[in-house]
Amino acid sequence: MSDFVKIIGVTDECYDTKTFEFQWDEKAFPGQFVMIWTPGMEEIPMSLSKTGRIKAVTVKAIGPSTKRLHELTIGDILRVRGPYGHGYDLQHDKQYLIVGGGVGTASVLPAIKETGADTVIGARSEQDIILRDRALKYASNVWFATDDGSFGFHGNVVQLMREKCAEKQYDCVIGCGPEIMLFFLFQACQELHLPCQLSLERHMKCGAGVCGCCVMNGQRVCRDGPVFTGEQIAKMKEFGHAKRDECGRLVTFR
Ligand SMILES: Cc1cc2nc3c(=O)[nH]c(=O)nc-3n(C[C@H](O)[C@H](O)[C@H](O)COP(=O)(O)OP(=O)(O)OC[C@H]3O[C@@H](n4cnc5c(N)ncnc54)[C@H](O)[C@@H]3O)c2cc1C
Ligand code: FES
Repeated sequence: MSDFVKIIGVTDECYDTKTFEFQWDEKAFPGQFVMIWTPGMEEIPMSLSKTGRIKAVTVKAIGPSTKRLHELTIGDILRVRGPYGHGYDLQHDKQYLIVGGGVGTASVLPAIKETGADTVIGARSEQDIILRDRALKYASNVWFATDDGSFGFHGNVVQLMREKCAEKQYDCVIGCGPEIMLFFLFQACQELHLPCQLSLERHMKCGAGVCGCCVMNGQRVCRDGPVFTGEQIAKMKEFGHAKRDECGRLVTFR
């Protein structure tokens, strides 16, 4: 479904990240994403950081399209296409530990809201933490990790996740963040024999399983993911090692 929606709220999350709210009646689930566009930018994928009738995307300004989005304000129009992909499989009798890294926290926020699960949020420093108030409102417990130690645990979010897993037994880990973080989170879950569901990112053009540009070891990240289980990820040899650029070339990053 593709619709034009009006922005009804803009929140500054931190110096480079804003949340844009809009009313959109499409049914959406935690972990799904939309393709978003306004004149002056490429159409790009964004996780839904709110999945109710009022929906939201939380955008970190890193390049031309996300910087263009940051120019928008209340009353401006966005074209939204989706929602796409498989979200998190959330069951109410399971104890989840939810792990958000950087702007990946946007993807897990609706899962925090739906489950009230314990949550670990990581950022480079205190001023990079996003969605803090909403996480504190919905989660049973929230712990923060910062790389520079300016807030919460001094270290990375996977180190803190390992500490929390030593203190309490969880059934499943849910995570989204930069791929390097997800790579070490996946390794930690393997070592701890903990099932996980991780939301992955690849370059996306159609978002709907047609163009093939997001393929990763035979899986279309947009349609078969973006959330994959630990068993699926174990078979994806490109995970943590290589991705396709906007021209479809395989580029190694480790
Ligand atoms: C499923 C999914 C969910 C996402 N959710 C969020 C989110 O909630 N918040 C957020 O801030 N960002 C999110 N992103 C990343 C976001 O799409 C990119 O930051 C954005 O496309 C960058 O565009 P740009 O023009 O600003 O930067 P550019 O300078 O063009 O690109 C910077 C980097 O962004 C990535 N990128 C660029 N275009 C695309 C594309 N079409 N598809 C995927 N990656 C791209 C590439 O790694 C590129 O190197 C998500 C990506 C995916 C795949
Ligand atoms: S973005 Fe086109 S198939 Fe995934």
